[in-house]
Amino acid sequence: MRKPVIIGNWKMNNGPDAANSFYEKLEKLIGKTEIDAVDWSIAAPFLSMVTLMQKGEDRLYIPLSAQNVNENESGAFTGEISVSMLQECGIEYTIIGHSERRQYFSETNEIVNKKLKALVNTFVSEEDYIIPVLAFGETEAEFDNNQTLEVVKTQLTEGLKDIKATDAQNIILAYEPIWAIGTGKTATPEQAQNVIKSAREIIKDIYDAETADTIRIQYGGSVNPNNVKELMAQPDIDGALVGGASLDPESFYKLITFNK
Ligand code: PGA
Repeated sequence: MRKPVIIGNWKMNNGPDAANSFYEKLEKLIGKTEIDAVDWSIAAPFLSMVTLMQKGEDRLYIPLSAQNVNENESGAFTGEISVSMLQECGIEYTIIGHSERRQYFSETNEIVNKKLKALVNTFVSEEDYIIPVLAFGETEAEFDNNQTLEVVKTQLTEGLKDIKATDAQNIILAYEPIWAIGTGKTATPEQAQNVIKSAREIIKDIYDAETADTIRIQYGGSVNPNNVKELMAQPDIDGALVGGASLDPESFYKLITFNK
């Protein structure tokens, strides 16, 4: 059984003050609720993570995700953050290849693959390993031209190049059709299911049936508390990467307790 994983991607929203008030409200909402059947996390801006981390020391622990990481170990890379810095701070997941990074920061499949390799190297340390969340998905024009599967195949094949099956099994994939991100236009559960099922077939071709069966694949793109249940009911969808609807604590709480 693949455990669903819900990750809130705050993008460049919710600075330290907003993170503080989000924390206070979420902690109250969660109260004594056991969120054990779902893995969850918040990908906050780096500065806001500090606020969330400090609170978590003796209160609600929020598992944190980075929204990006640099592929180099250290050095003269102004403005960047390394894998070892994320490890040092106990970051649990890192999103790589988000379509906004591909579009606005020129991230190619080759760069995404380098970042993935840098993160997979952490799998050797039992305590400080970081789970990569590899995002992929087609543009609206590619969707209209029926190129979705072709694009997805290239992104997955090139993104996962030289990654071993045993490591791939620990990675999370996130299918995010770009036309559904921040637009309020969600893929229907059937559309998302079909592409994710095909992505699983692609993983089977790259690796084997066991890897395809084990790897978790999220859906992302205008997920909200009203559509999350139906999306999660699809057999191949193992969670969600949520932008807009993760900014508000009530809506985020409903998302991470969708199965209650
Ligand atoms: P959205 O963003 O939920 O606001 O559409 C999803 C994402 O970009 O991860």
